[in-house]
Amino acid sequence: MKYIVSIFLFCLLSSCSKPGSQSDEFINWSTYLGDHASSQYSPLDQINRDNVSALQVAWQYDGGEAHPDHRSQIQCNPLVINGVLYGTTASLKVIALDAATGELLWSYNPYSDDFDNFGMGVNRGLMYHEGADHDILLYGAGQYVIALNPSDGSLRDEFGQDGYIDLQQGLGTNDSLLVLANTPGIIYQDLMIIGGRVSESTGAAPGHIRAFDVHTGEQKWIFHTIPKPGQAGYDSWPQDAYKRVGGANVWSGMALDIENDLVYCPTGSAAYDFYGGDRHGSNLYANSLLALRASTGEYVWHFQAVHHDIWDKDLPAPPNLFTMEKDGESILAIAQITKNGFVFIFNRLTGEALYPIVEQPVPSSELLGEQAWKTQPFPTTFPPFSRTELTAENLATRNPAARAYAEAIWENSNHTAGTYEPPSEKGTIIFPGFDGGGEWGGAAYDPEHGNLIINSNEVAWLNVMDKVKPASKGERTYQAHCQSCHGQTFESNQLYGNIPSLVNLKDRISIAEASQIIKHGKGIMPSFGYIDDESIEAVYHYINGEDDTEKALSSDWPYPYAMRGYKKLYAPDGYPMITPPWGQLTSINVESAKINWQIPLGEHAELTAVGMPITGTENYGGPIVTAGDLIFIGATMDNKIRAFDRSSGEELWAYTLPAAAYATPASYSINGKQYLVIACGGGKLGSDSGDHWLAFSL
Ligand code: HEC
Repeated sequence: MKYIVSIFLFCLLSSCSKPGSQSDEFINWSTYLGDHASSQYSPLDQINRDNVSALQVAWQYDGGEAHPDHRSQIQCNPLVINGVLYGTTASLKVIALDAATGELLWSYNPYSDDFDNFGMGVNRGLMYHEGADHDILLYGAGQYVIALNPSDGSLRDEFGQDGYIDLQQGLGTNDSLLVLANTPGIIYQDLMIIGGRVSESTGAAPGHIRAFDVHTGEQKWIFHTIPKPGQAGYDSWPQDAYKRVGGANVWSGMALDIENDLVYCPTGSAAYDFYGGDRHGSNLYANSLLALRASTGEYVWHFQAVHHDIWDKDLPAPPNLFTMEKDGESILAIAQITKNGFVFIFNRLTGEALYPIVEQPVPSSELLGEQAWKTQPFPTTFPPFSRTELTAENLATRNPAARAYAEAIWENSNHTAGTYEPPSEKGTIIFPGFDGGGEWGGAAYDPEHGNLIINSNEVAWLNVMDKVKPASKGERTYQAHCQSCHGQTFESNQLYGNIPSLVNLKDRISIAEASQIIKHGKGIMPSFGYIDDESIEAVYHYINGEDDTEKALSSDWPYPYAMRGYKKLYAPDGYPMITPPWGQLTSINVESAKINWQIPLGEHAELTAVGMPITGTENYGGPIVTAGDLIFIGATMDNKIRAFDRSSGEELWAYTLPAAAYATPASYSINGKQYLVIACGGGKLGSDSGDHWLAFSL
């Protein structure tokens, strides 16, 4: 059976299905994350465990767009089709490169030349539609999805309005609410099925899932992830929630079972992320794995991984589809990883759990008006891929200052209930953190051995909920929209790396410049086009200590609490306040439900030098696995890309890249030569930004 699956995958990856194509000339990476099953798998085996140590740079493309002020990033997993690599840049341009030489064939800029593209967020990949007459390349830049001719990068004018559709329109709500197409959707026949990133605060758009005609851009179906009256799931919310609550959005990608006409959509939490007093109920279909009929958008089944989320525990990655043997039967299965480090596995046709999932009691919330859900689902036999709870034994011991810091935080925070300790005024430890456990890099699936390969972050964060007091206009605006990133005292959390301090803002940035940034966004800072000019002026004065508007309770911050900020807990020496590993790579067999191996991923060389065992580092971007018995992954803070033996987890090769590769690699072949390629964009975790693509071959 596994053999058949591999052949099937091979055909998806290569051009088997296209009559007249030369599959021995090109083995493609034709879908985001390799295939529609999001396997992050390549059937290529030319590069293997015996020769990988001889891997060399085949070509390097330098786009020259790295933008240190913007902490620019590239998170793109490219497509490689018939010898051409399609990738996106830090400023959301598309580049087409000769995948054998790295030569630039064409590029496409979605904005006018004098526009600051860096404000539009990130792009993680592209979509490709193979048509009878012509092919179409689709990708998201900011709120737009854009259709191009893959041969020359020209716009396909017949798609939407002159080649663009605007995801902010057609949701049935206010068109000015933020929707960003950060992760590619999926192509099914002539449909593009897509979600988007939305605000996590007030004024969030609903995360409805939609399908558009790839030729015309016409909206073909919509699935309401926040149900309307009469729709299933409606009674899991207050009656009017569908009119005012947002979120429950698919921001991390999808998987598709073409033969069974099923699309699998993992959703994020409802907004506001950290307080649900205005959304009592379990909040379907937030934090759910949703199976929909791909052709119609009809509901088929769902599993809600977190009920009434008040922790920002979005489902962070697309699920993996595979076939597994269970009790002598061959079952079409699906696995979903979570930020908590859990793996949930189901029969993908019926939604029946293939390993036990038990609803266990979790604590109630002490916040006014909050009604935390009484139970949460735990996989009780399938092993987690990271630590899922902190205990006092996990507090750092590496030096007295780190120990003292960790003990002080521990004393003064709530943490006894593990990952479902509710948000509190005292402060709640979030572990695994807001960025996992699992993150958008997702899991790779090795079809020959039935193994899931998953990288994890393992650092603790702190969430403090402040009671909202009468405040000036600027302060209120700041608390509602800015504080979660820029911090209560405007200093951000410098160690978080990406977010600049706003201290003494007026000495550097005029009110006019600041209001441009606030209205249009910058880097990963979203745009706040919906905030009125008066509030923008007031927030600028507030940041500069000069806001003299009257103190009052707000009408537009409807919650009694505001989150103080996304705070990672680093000890004074700059490293996490817990014991290592701070990042791991894990291989788990889906049939035996056993961990094959688990290793620290990434190295802080300066700590190894003073005698610490390798700690692993925080990491973003996922692994791929190949038939050459290898796992390739960048993702770490030490700027490396590594190859591991897929059977043993032994490191066989590493190469130091010109910038950290917070992106998932791809593998393809041209004329019998296998390549490995990765984008090196840096910009996260305090890394320098870069703008490089590196390809390797023997
Ligand atoms: C999701 C996190 C996030 C939120 C929310 C956010 N920002 Fe930012 N902000 C950033 C990041 C990241 C940057 C750096 C962007 C870059 O340079 O690429 C930034 C940059 C800025 C800058 C420019 C600072 C400089 O020195 O270049 C200003 C001013 C600013 N933000 C103000 C605000 C205000 C006011 C709000 C609320 C209305 C806000 N931000 C909300 C993340 C955020």
